[in-house]
Amino acid sequence: MTAIRQRKKGSTVPRPHPDHGTLPAPLVDRFGRVHTDLRVSLTDRCNLRCTYCMPAEGLDWLPRPDVLTDDEVVRLVRLATERFGITQVRLTGGEPLLRRGLPGLVARLAALDAAPELSMTTNGIGLARSAAALREAGLDRVNVSLDTLRADRYAEITRRDRIGDVLEGLRAARDAGLAPVKINAVPVRGVNDDEIVDLTAFALEHGYRMRFIESMPLDAQGAWDRDRMVTAAEILDLLRERYDLNPVERRNNAPAEEWRIGATDARVGVIASVTRPFCGACDRVRLTADGQLRTCLFATDESDLRALLRNGADDQALEAAWRTSLAGKGPGHAIGSAGFRRPERPMSAIGG
Ligand code: 5AD
Ligand code: SF4
Repeated sequence: MTAIRQRKKGSTVPRPHPDHGTLPAPLVDRFGRVHTDLRVSLTDRCNLRCTYCMPAEGLDWLPRPDVLTDDEVVRLVRLATERFGITQVRLTGGEPLLRRGLPGLVARLAALDAAPELSMTTNGIGLARSAAALREAGLDRVNVSLDTLRADRYAEITRRDRIGDVLEGLRAARDAGLAPVKINAVPVRGVNDDEIVDLTAFALEHGYRMRFIESMPLDAQGAWDRDRMVTAAEILDLLRERYDLNPVERRNNAPAEEWRIGATDARVGVIASVTRPFCGACDRVRLTADGQLRTCLFATDESDLRALLRNGADDQALEAAWRTSLAGKGPGHAIGSAGFRRPERPMSAIGG
């Protein structure tokens, strides 16, 4: 076994490139931010229609030939892990479980020499069927989106009556060992903001980690309204009325602020993307399902890696394009400022 294969999955210890023996050079931007986390969107399609994300009729999905093939995804992730020292890869969508042959793709990513830690953000529909196979293939953990515990409200928010599938999916993920299983909820005023404590209690009871995300202006309809966003401060006030919260030391660059609940090991987290932006510590880069590299959720430009891939570019050329794109990464989003521009793609076409 080589030194590379013995490396602990996702560890940040640099290891030599298998072809030329040199160490990967980290992806550093002009602000000195080192990028170790790659988000890969596997499809822009979704089987839900969350009101804060897309219109009832859905969106114009990418034509299938535009979507990266498994070979193309594996090649880019291999490059990212070997050449840049990417240690974390998160699979996203749309809904990543809609990607055909997902366990096969996960197995290929997990078998890379410099295998990253592999996680997935999913709405949980279909997870009951696939959790064990995904774990077996090498997926490490999942985040499941669940904004409410009430079936009628779930159907209103997502426009689909599927809460039962999500609850089953959560259980299956936990039973399969995709740990820690995290639940993501986006509280919206007047919609589900009265369930912040209930969702947390549910997560506590079942051994999941609850995370609340401030709603961001990334919906396809452009209907985001700052006044309906529930802020991290409000979420914490509500939680403190019920729980004793003890801060957990923040993992390097982690966007979630986390608290341990009482003396237990249970945790609750808040992602305050809008009111406490963490752009200064951002370590993320994103690949869309159609092979466009984005340096930020809110970036207004992209770098077309798919064109390079399909024009026969070698690894060196791909690496150069990737580094050039990173060099142009902006300091961060400016939600709320006069100059703020929404990105052209909605969240579902970028990947969360
Ligand atoms: N703002 C914040 N979070 C969002 N998500 C989807 N749209 C938004 C938005 N506009 C969440 C989903 C899912 C994750 C991918 O991002 O609920 O948990
Ligand atoms: Fe689908 Fe996620 Fe958008 Fe809901 S938020 S419609 S689950 S992509």
